[in-house]
Amino acid sequence: MNILIVDDEEVLQDVLTSLIRREGWNPISARTGEEALQILEREEVDLVLLDLMLPMMSGMEVMAQIQSRDPDQVIVIITAFSSIEGAIDAMREGAFHYIPKPFKNEEVLVTIQKGLAQRRLAQENKSLRAQLKKRYAFDNIIGKSKPMLKVFELIRLAAPSKSNILLLGESGTGKELAAKAIHHHSRRADGPFITVNSGSMPHDLLESNLFGHVKGAFTGAIANKMGLFELSSGGSIFFDEIGNIPVDTQAKLLRVIQEKEFMRLGGIETMTADARVIAATNADLEKLVRAASFREDLYYRLNVINIHLPPLRERAEDIPLLARRFLEQYAEENEKEMAEISPRAMELLMDYRWPGNVRELENVVERATVLSTGEVLDVDLLPPSVREPRSAEAPPPALPTNGLSFKEAVAAYERQLITSALKLAGGVQKRAAEKLKVKPTTLHEMMKRLKITAESLNL
Ligand SMILES: Nc1ncnc2c1ncn2[C@@H]1O[C@H](COP(=O)(O)OP(=O)(O)OP(=O)(O)O)[C@@H](O)[C@H]1O
Ligand SMILES: [Mg+2]
Repeated sequence: MNILIVDDEEVLQDVLTSLIRREGWNPISARTGEEALQILEREEVDLVLLDLMLPMMSGMEVMAQIQSRDPDQVIVIITAFSSIEGAIDAMREGAFHYIPKPFKNEEVLVTIQKGLAQRRLAQENKSLRAQLKKRYAFDNIIGKSKPMLKVFELIRLAAPSKSNILLLGESGTGKELAAKAIHHHSRRADGPFITVNSGSMPHDLLESNLFGHVKGAFTGAIANKMGLFELSSGGSIFFDEIGNIPVDTQAKLLRVIQEKEFMRLGGIETMTADARVIAATNADLEKLVRAASFREDLYYRLNVINIHLPPLRERAEDIPLLARRFLEQYAEENEKEMAEISPRAMELLMDYRWPGNVRELENVVERATVLSTGEVLDVDLLPPSVREPRSAEAPPPALPTNGLSFKEAVAAYERQLITSALKLAGGVQKRAAEKLKVKPTTLHEMMKRLKITAESLNL
């Protein structure tokens, strides 16, 4: 344990030094505040004994500087009995304790012991907080639900490989975030990450963007231009919404992926492509393949490894984590004091269906933060779509032409209701029972009868 003694009096330094050494701790002396701050720059110090009456920089000033560098530093003030007010001020500013001079050795030792215990606690808390952050987030992707942990695991496994990766999921589920995480965990992390927003670009413009062109390749091509494949050499190229790539361009894309070769538009030189391809889509590519608007061979090439980002409504337990993170972020950005979400507002956030997924949740929290005047995000700050509970009425089931067993149909409907309630409740039966307005024991019985288990829910 390193204990820094900041005092300009020779005698006091000697007394404290030998006292501390005798306890088996390591004393370090500083005669001035400046010297103390220099030592703190290079040494890990567990506790500071600080005299308030110092030459040049005052003890209070030294304390303020120490705290600005390490708010958790434990500072014990030593001061003459006559200037006890100073000690009280220091306590108010966050000193751990004070010892009036003259002091008894025992008193000093007990105070140091208590201070060190406090230090240990603060450090444990810090590392716990760091661990918690790590556990609930992968890079910037937040989530602790089973499906998200699965996503993290897949990213971790797939990232270092050379394989192309296809990210699937509804809009706003975090596909771009996942693509970046894959890049950052790959061997190409130091290389570029280039995004292709194909949007509704005509195919010739898209191709000149992807592969580059040589001077004179078409009217307006006044100079040679590098394409995105060349720019992402040594890194990753991310196709945001691969389903939008026109069929003509798909053939060329297939060639680059397959042969690792391409040519600039109008060029004669064959170039080597060295980019890892990551593609994302919210479309059903298999359906596009069947409709012949997406090449089947390209689909198989891209689909070597696919990672599905689950919609937010299927992982309601991530909603509080995400909402709090966004609240923290937007409160800071907008300099608002807002720090918490009321229980009722949180309930509404957890019940909502989130068709726009995480992006929509982020927007809702941002909006609430901007509009807020108080410290709590309450129901009144939520948009009507979130505030109004969904209608419980379901569309009437279609009757198949060959008829259906009434009993089975009812059972199927019950199963659906219970399953979605359980999913919304993050698997917590008591909460699910509340949502269905039945007793937990009733829910339990129904689950048994319908053979619904935690595994069958995939939670
Ligand atoms: N798990 C998550 N944790 C934190 N932020 C997230 C998470 N998922 C998504 N976001 C945030 O939500 C927004 C949308 O995410 P992103 O752009 O990655 O979605 P997407 O799947 O690419 O959507 P689209 O299909 O519409 O392009 C971003 O601001 C992103 O930071
Ligand atoms: Mg996207």
